[in-house]
Amino acid sequence: MSHPFPPPEDSNDSANPNIHHISTPSRRQVLKGGWAAMSAQVFAAMGLSACATTGQGPRAALGFKPVGVNTLDQVTVPEGYEAQVLVPWGEPVGLSGEDPAFKWDASNTAAEQAAQLGMHHDGIQFLPLPALGTGLLVINHEYTDDGLLHRDGMATWSAEKVRKSQAAHGLSIVEVTQEQGRWRSVRPSPYARRITAHTPMHFSGPAAGHSLLRTAADPQGMSPLGTFNNCGNGLTPWGTVLTTEENFIGYFNGPAQPDAHGKRWGLRSGGAGYRWHEHDARFDATRHPNEPNRFGWLVEIDPQDPSSVPVKRTALGRGSHEAARIVLTQDGRAVVYSGEDARFEYIYKFVSRDRMQPGGAKANLHLLDHGTLYVARFDANGRGQWLPLTHGSHPLDAAHGFQDTGEVLVKSRQASDALGATKMDRPEWIEVDQQGWVYVTLTNNTSRGVGNNPGVDAANPRANNSMGHIIRWKESGDFDATSFDWNHLVLAGDPAQSRPQAQGNIRGDAFACPDGLWVDTRGVLWIQTDISSNTIAKGEMSGVGHNALLALDPRSGEVRRFLVGPAGCEITGMTGTPDGTTVFVNIQHPGESPSERSDPKQPRQYSNWPDFRPDGRPRSATLAIRKRDGGVVGT
Ligand code: FEO
Ligand code: CA
Ligand code: CA
Repeated sequence: MSHPFPPPEDSNDSANPNIHHISTPSRRQVLKGGWAAMSAQVFAAMGLSACATTGQGPRAALGFKPVGVNTLDQVTVPEGYEAQVLVPWGEPVGLSGEDPAFKWDASNTAAEQAAQLGMHHDGIQFLPLPALGTGLLVINHEYTDDGLLHRDGMATWSAEKVRKSQAAHGLSIVEVTQEQGRWRSVRPSPYARRITAHTPMHFSGPAAGHSLLRTAADPQGMSPLGTFNNCGNGLTPWGTVLTTEENFIGYFNGPAQPDAHGKRWGLRSGGAGYRWHEHDARFDATRHPNEPNRFGWLVEIDPQDPSSVPVKRTALGRGSHEAARIVLTQDGRAVVYSGEDARFEYIYKFVSRDRMQPGGAKANLHLLDHGTLYVARFDANGRGQWLPLTHGSHPLDAAHGFQDTGEVLVKSRQASDALGATKMDRPEWIEVDQQGWVYVTLTNNTSRGVGNNPGVDAANPRANNSMGHIIRWKESGDFDATSFDWNHLVLAGDPAQSRPQAQGNIRGDAFACPDGLWVDTRGVLWIQTDISSNTIAKGEMSGVGHNALLALDPRSGEVRRFLVGPAGCEITGMTGTPDGTTVFVNIQHPGESPSERSDPKQPRQYSNWPDFRPDGRPRSATLAIRKRDGGVVGT
């Protein structure tokens, strides 16, 4: 069931209450209030009061000249734009006035890395601070390339290297300021913070303290250590950030014969590519079988309080979470959308029991602990159902192996299997626009319809789906609705591909493997691509070039390429200032080799971006992109 481009003017839009309750403020509100009015609390209030001012919703229109495909080792943006490199891997975050400098030969210690930005930037959020032109960047560091992180790569392996690898994971919180059009990080800053694979955290919600979360080091099952493989993230209307824990299972060494639960989550002997378990027994699941259960959660962080303890919100379910998009219902309840970026896994929605309260993070400490978790089923008639993961109702009961709510949440995948939810083609980011459309990227799934794997279905219509697609839906009423109407926004693909199944129906500039998504204040849908270096090396994307950032005008369906990244990178994570004049975009893993682990003897083999030093190495970084005339980006 595919409707590539429904009529641009959806007659239901102006009547749909959803348009009034997304948490993105309108440009008009921003100009009226200035950044000083954009503190998190005010930001939240704006989300609630938007219906008074947004009317029909913003009109998207793309005003830039698209850039062409290229394979240069640089960032290309349209004429009239500039892209400034900000906060690369290894730059101090600003914990003190005595920050350790980045060492170009990768000889920084683990302790030094824990005071510097981590590797492989991913999801990013901008939180305005009261002073005009300043804010906090909250940046995920998805994973590490240990061939690049250590001077001799993984040729030798030690406890110190494990600690450095763990310290290069997690998140960075960096204060940034704009002066005469140039952005810089503020160092030191009272907000500066690193969160790593060792940071003490709490569990909350129905699974906190569950026997499946208890370990020898934490017999109460309440105090996990650290977060990693943080991919997408989302800003809550009360000013906190939800970060995701995506491919966590690959950090654990499993038993030769995993039990059914371990198998369902991909735990296996020799599966720990990072080899942390060789020097940190916590990551050896043969000795600590419940430790993997303590990852795969959405983690709430208060960036404005550096002493706050991050909280893993178990009510939101467990999975290889990619996205965390938070909106409010008309009466102020929180709704969190998140999918699992894994082949044949699911899309989830959580609806809180209680309403958001004024007063920011402290007033909403338990909002995400009580509510209902749903999983999506996409039906062939263009309708969809949200199936509740409620313990006690058939088949989520003791007779089917679910003893209590905590077990349903730890085993969200098994619960979704039992409910008959739709197995998707790797759901990545989820976004919501001003019209109430919810978008999700399905990045690709080359196993669809291959061998004994599930075949095509209405929502995932292509076998050997190497190109990916974007689905969108509208809830039947408010965001807490239990049904929705869906269609395909676009099937991605290289028009030059000889395989008809891979050709796609993009109107405008072609792309493949959509991953990051962001809706700006005007309603433009920004699409970031992640075609793997391996796939590019095989030549399967002949017409696409390096990974790119594209803008899609949902009103016309037109797509224009806005940015092309340097060699070997993916583009992932995007946010902007409230006035729309700067967007922040992450460049991840420039110089990635087809094997996905660099040769330490040739660190510049595939890229030397962004520093281009003769003794340098490629570094992930954030771009601050502005229009030279100071206008709104994309116009
Ligand atoms: Fe971390 Fe699904 O990309
Ligand atoms: Ca991603
Ligand atoms: Ca991806």
